[in-house]
Amino acid sequence: MRVLTGIQASGKLHLGNYFGAMKPMVELQENHELFTFIANYHSLTTSKDADTLRQYTIDAAVDYLSVGIDPDKTTFWIQSHVPEVLELYWILSKFTPMGLLERAHSYKDKVAKGIPASHALFSYPVLMAADILLLDTEQVPVGKDQIQHVEMTRDIAIKFNNEYGELFILPEHLVQEEVATIPGIDGQKMSKSYNNAIDLFMDEKSLQKRCNKIVSSSTPLGEPLEYEGDNIYALASLFLNDEEKLELQARYRSGKEGYGHFKKYLKELIWEELGEAREKREYYLSHMDEVHDILAQGAKKASTIASAKMEKVKAAIGL
Ligand code: ADP
Ligand code: TRP
Repeated sequence: MRVLTGIQASGKLHLGNYFGAMKPMVELQENHELFTFIANYHSLTTSKDADTLRQYTIDAAVDYLSVGIDPDKTTFWIQSHVPEVLELYWILSKFTPMGLLERAHSYKDKVAKGIPASHALFSYPVLMAADILLLDTEQVPVGKDQIQHVEMTRDIAIKFNNEYGELFILPEHLVQEEVATIPGIDGQKMSKSYNNAIDLFMDEKSLQKRCNKIVSSSTPLGEPLEYEGDNIYALASLFLNDEEKLELQARYRSGKEGYGHFKKYLKELIWEELGEAREKREYYLSHMDEVHDILAQGAKKASTIASAKMEKVKAAIGL
């Protein structure tokens, strides 16, 4: 089963990204043929300047490798290193009714948030369709907000196939239902735009400081604490098995410990979970040649598939 997904690089990654996107992806590579790329052409739609886009792109590559993308198992590259995707994007545009794009929620949301309404932003789903169809993708793991884009990809592929022959596989979206929304330090959905995120890679002191900012109720020390609805508990339980959760619940109820203790405990859990990733990250950051090598090999592999596909597509439509 060929599985493909794109990662938007837009700054520092946080625990929401880790549990919502990175961990499930790392698990997928164990029994799927995984193709993953840093979607820098997509990021261009919201990018402010060249240096930032360049930095975000390579940072995201290092971070995903650090949390466990294994280049021996997964084909991992930077989108713009396989430019065939832009050729297909144009061709697919011809099979994309304006009405289809006009119905896209993500476009409307982004414009409502103040992102300038450019043509690139409008046709973003066509480029995403090209990413998916170019490599004969069968499944696309995405967050709920991206399901519509995968459906649009199917619509475009069907239109092409009807007119020019069955060249494209119709992809399906794969949504990890069990991944709940991870709360931020204020209890709302963790997001870098809400300024409530706990970043993955911080030094130990800063991580503790961030955990100390988690909003909790003001029950005085010595009284039993309610774990249900508590943000520290919600975050800590992401790291715990059922038995450990029960133990933590008992500690909340005992009244012997206050929120300060649980904030320390949470910091320990995060710090420990990311120990291996931190080591790998140190390694990659001091061996950037290796990172570039991995990405170049990934691009080469994706290119081989892409150029063979483009030959067929072009022949089919008369180019
Ligand atoms: P942000 O909201 O910080 O901008 P993104 O939209 O870039 O995050 O999300 C990238 C990936 O991480 C998506 O697949 C998304 O589903 C996942 N993700 C982000 N925040 C959370 C969260 N709070 N809980 C679960 N998953 C999340
Ligand atoms: N649009 C996706 C997002 O914002 C990123 C992306 C680009 C993607 N191309 C893709 C995801 C192809 C899956 C498949 O998260």
